Amino acid sequence: MWKSNQSYWLAWLFLSLSLAVGLYDQLNGSTDPSLFMPGPLSDGHHQFTDQCEICHAHPFDGSEAIEQRCVECHGETRVKPHDSHPKSKFDDPRNADLLAKIDASSCMTCHQEHKTAITLKDGFTQPVDFCAHCHANIGEERPSHADMAFSSCKDAGCHNFHNNRAIYTDFLIKHLDEKDLLDKRRVKAREFAGILEELMEYPHDDYPVEALTSDDADAPGQMNTDPHLQRSWAASSHAKSGVNCSACHSPDNSNSDWSDTVPYTVCQNCHHLEVERFQGGRHGMRWSAGLPDMPIREARLPMRQTALHQTVNCHSCHNAHDYDSQYAAVDACVQCHADQHTQAYEQSPHARLWAAERENSAPPGSGVSCATCHMPRIAFDMNDWASRIMVDHNQSANLSPNTKMARTVCLHCHGLDFTLKALADSQQILNNFATRPKPEEHPSMQLARRDHERYLREINANPP
Ligand code: HEC
Ligand code: HEC
Ligand code: HEC
Ligand code: HEC
Ligand code: HEC
Ligand code: HEC
Ligand code: HEC
Ligand code: HEC
Ligand code: HEC
Ligand code: HEC
Repeated sequence: MWKSNQSYWLAWLFLSLSLAVGLYDQLNGSTDPSLFMPGPLSDGHHQFTDQCEICHAHPFDGSEAIEQRCVECHGETRVKPHDSHPKSKFDDPRNADLLAKIDASSCMTCHQEHKTAITLKDGFTQPVDFCAHCHANIGEERPSHADMAFSSCKDAGCHNFHNNRAIYTDFLIKHLDEKDLLDKRRVKAREFAGILEELMEYPHDDYPVEALTSDDADAPGQMNTDPHLQRSWAASSHAKSGVNCSACHSPDNSNSDWSDTVPYTVCQNCHHLEVERFQGGRHGMRWSAGLPDMPIREARLPMRQTALHQTVNCHSCHNAHDYDSQYAAVDACVQCHADQHTQAYEQSPHARLWAAERENSAPPGSGVSCATCHMPRIAFDMNDWASRIMVDHNQSANLSPNTKMARTVCLHCHGLDFTLKALADSQQILNNFATRPKPEEHPSMQLARRDHERYLREINANPP
């Protein structure tokens, strides 16, 4: 025992020293720190590869210090009601014996890094039937589950480990017998323009909310007469809401400091929530670590050849100066993404609905663009007393497990049974929902229906 321990410590020291030297050299710009990694990072974190400090604050840090880093970034979503197995569940002494089987109070039990061979979707590094450790008696507790394999618990829209907000029994019962297509089918409208007056942190003094025309443009000299600039800016919602040239090009309000380039920190002056959300997802996460924009050529997802020289920033989707958000919602995405799901979108019924909305032949909010699903309009708290419907710029937030999309997106237009079946079908994902899901009711809905019927029978037999 001592022998293997000893070699373990020697290996540790060697690795850690290498790490320390790696970091030191990195400061001198001479060595690539990823040479010292025991293996590549998971898909979720690969953009952090050159930044070991993100998880290893100090080369000699143990698991507890690393865990602290996980929680700093992910803690917000790992609590109730978003998480059905939060750490707090296992602080309960009655659950202590479960932890002896699998230590679910530590993230790294299930999400190791540098281990490609055992890393599954979502950076998960346990065998798929791991629910059995704690739910071995489920067949006795719920006879309906007796014949089910533990490897199937978290498949196909039945359960997730963390987020079960669209698939718990009461929710399923509430949504039984809904039509595939609801009668009213609309996503919510955006609210920024409407609440500008009430936003305390908005720079009203410099840029009062009022409609501007070409004549009001406050750029120095010749620029104000450039016809192309004039057309696109004057027609934009910026001009309509009083955002003049100087708001972006000389944000400290002196024309002598005019700059042709506009960093995202300028947008942040008025759109800080968008910038904050952007940094939590795979488009903007590099900014959160103080790194420059994500270069497309380093992407692991399939990208178009023509985009390889670009990076991701606000202007990847938003063109200066028209800021046309319909362009941003599909046309921009397909300039970069080239996977099968993306390419199939154009042929889907959703794309037809989107085309109708763009042509004004269907009402606003009735079309389904890439952004409708990936950047949904949801309520965010602006401060302690007010919230607004806002475009979520973290396009990873509702992606995985994909049932997170049910509440934020699909249920505005479809019934729950239809939604769960469509999201559970990998073929539907590949063809971007161009075909109908199977007619049979989703197994989770069937189970909920039986639960509900049993409850009604009991109530009828013994009225309260
Ligand atoms: C996203 C977080 C993350 C990043 C970024 C990261 N690591 Fe790790 N690393 C981990 C985790 C988690 C472990 C496993 C620790 C454990 O099980 O105690 C680990 C383990 C290691 C180990 C093995 C030593 C040990 O503690 O078992 C080395 C060496 C290592 N990392 C080097 C690196 C280097 C070098 C970089 C940067 C190029 C890097 N790591 C970047 C999360 C990360
Ligand atoms: C600096 C912030 C940061 C730290 C530290 C960090 N993460 Fe992440 N993590 C992210 C971001 C950003 C993503 C990508 C967006 C997403 O998938 O939510 C991500 C993705 C993930 C994913 C999803 C992986 C996938 O392939 O979809 C898991 C699981 C995860 N992190 C767990 C951890 C664990 C465990 C640790 C600690 C070892 C950790 N993270 C440390 C920011 C961080
Ligand atoms: C007992 C195993 C287990 C533990 C412990 C665990 N996870 Fe997970 N995690 C999973 C599984 C399984 C998934 C795949 C999606 C699902 O089933 O919810 C996942 C998915 C994720 C994701 C991507 C999807 C999402 O819901 O955001 C993140 C991020 C994540 N885990 C972070 C963490 C962090 C941070 C911790 C520690 C506080 C942690 N996990 C602890 C099993 C675990
Ligand atoms: C480390 C132990 C542990 C593991 C592993 C585990 N669970 Fe749980 N689970 C619990 C505990 C404890 C409860 C709370 C039991 C209670 O309140 O009756 C629970 C509750 C649940 C619930 C009840 C409803 C809810 O959302 O609160 C479901 C469903 C569930 N787990 C599914 C799963 C699935 C699926 C897996 C595998 C992907 C899994 N669990 C893995 C310990 C675990
Ligand atoms: C909402 C912010 C915003 C407003 C308002 C704005 N611009 Fe710009 N402008 C930009 C961005 C972003 C760029 C691209 C710069 C870059 O690549 O960093 C740009 C680029 C420019 C350039 C450089 C050449 C070019 O076309 O790329 C000029 C000149 C310019 N703007 C003039 C103007 C004038 C004149 C106005 C007012 C009529 C104006 N801008 C209003 C954000 C803005
Ligand atoms: C001085 C404040 C201010 C600055 C600086 C600013 N904006 Fe805006 N932005 C606004 C206002 C006000 C609106 C109008 C809201 C509306 O009509 O929806 C707006 C609207 C937008 C829209 C929605 C356009 C539409 O028609 O749907 C986008 C996209 C946008 N801004 C991006 C940016 C970017 C990117 C930057 C940085 C280059 C930036 N803004 C800088 C105040 C600002
Ligand atoms: C300038 C190029 C570019 C544009 C434009 C772009 N993306 Fe991306 N996208 C990326 C890159 C790079 C990644 C990260 C890939 C990686 O890490 O492997 C990504 C990742 C994603 C992911 C995966 C997130 C995850 O957590 O797994 C989704 C979904 C996505 N983009 C959707 C969109 C949508 C929708 C649009 C349009 C509204 C869009 N993208 C526009 C480059 C782009
Ligand atoms: C991946 C593409 C993409 C990127 C990158 C992107 N946006 Fe957007 N943004 C959109 C789309 C699409 C919409 C409109 C969606 C809608 O109407 O539902 C939008 C809307 C907005 C709005 C209007 C929001 C509202 O709720 O009224 C603002 C402001 C904005 N973006 C600012 C930014 C800023 C600042 C950045 C850089 C941090 C940025 N965007 C980066 C795609 C993007
Ligand atoms: C009706 C909703 C919907 C529409 C419309 C949609 N997607 Fe998706 N997309 C999804 C879902 C659901 C997933 C998650 C698949 C999974 O992992 O289960 C996904 C996954 C992705 C991914 C991640 C792929 C990966 O392998 O991780 C990218 C990138 C993406 N979509 C881009 C786009 C683009 C670009 C468009 C528009 C051309 C688009 N999507 C349109 C629902 C949609
Ligand atoms: C704004 C409303 C809206 C949203 C949001 C929406 N859909 Fe749809 N969807 C529709 C409409 C309307 C149709 C039927 C279009 C037609 O038949 O021309 C449709 C068609 C479909 C189809 C194909 C049905 C067929 O007959 O071929 C599938 C599958 C689907 N949607 C799944 C989803 C999923 C999954 C989500 C969420 C990720 C979603 N939809 C979000 C409105 C929406």
